[in-house]
Amino acid sequence: MSAQNRDRRITAVDIRARKGGEPIVSLTSYHAHTARIVDPYVDFILVGDSLGMVMHGLETTIPVTLDMMILQGRAVIRGSSRALIVVDMPFGSYEASCEDAFRAAARVMKETHCGAIKLEGGRRMADTIRFLVERGIPVMAHVGLTPQAINTMGGFRIQGREEAQWAELEDDARAVADAGAFAVVLEGMAEPIARKITGELPIPTIGIGASPACDGQILVLEDMLGLSDWVPKFVKKFGALGPSIETAVKDYADEVRARSFPAPEHTYTMKAKG
Ligand code: KIV
Repeated sequence: MSAQNRDRRITAVDIRARKGGEPIVSLTSYHAHTARIVDPYVDFILVGDSLGMVMHGLETTIPVTLDMMILQGRAVIRGSSRALIVVDMPFGSYEASCEDAFRAAARVMKETHCGAIKLEGGRRMADTIRFLVERGIPVMAHVGLTPQAINTMGGFRIQGREEAQWAELEDDARAVADAGAFAVVLEGMAEPIARKITGELPIPTIGIGASPACDGQILVLEDMLGLSDWVPKFVKKFGALGPSIETAVKDYADEVRARSFPAPEHTYTMKAKG
């Protein structure tokens, strides 16, 4: 089953059924316009809280709010028709209690019409994941490097380089799968442990900086397009959008300054019908 040739949206259940099969393709998107471009080629689109850094120039994802996620989630739903849309739960919206998490996640689902939510954390979030799934909210988990925990982790570091760290990572991944998550993002994880977890888990693993051993891959769209100022080392740039936008903007500015900008009759010429 691929993302193409479908006439309904892919669901969390479809993604869960892809374990060990054709690799799952995913990208982030925060806008209707990019969602429209990405939609035919991916299985799910993540409206990631990375939007805080990518769209708003924030240093971390910590200040991102539920309202920001809902606004961009609605835009991505409007721009897409096939891919499953997963919306990230922002820091502070789900950690305090299962009830708080349900209220926030239900709001995200009602107001965006997304098909699933994602939250960060392994064993510590297992009860919450179970609570949400039992009440009809499909949950994608996220373990390994969890950016919302940057202040307690002390920075963005690859997880599981030392074998001594493996048991904790495996326990986290197993806990979210046992709790009913339909898939789990493995972020910033050394290849041997990402491969081991992928082999052990009954649900798909989605890697970001966690090697090709995972059941699928996700990247931040602006990073792989070459639009972001800085990208992590593992990101391959499939485009050079930053320089290309800069050239277009410079050409425009030059035309305006040289008064050679097209006259209105050129700008508004419409193709005659019939
Ligand atoms: O917010 C995000 O973009 C993410 C991906 C990096 C997985 O969580």
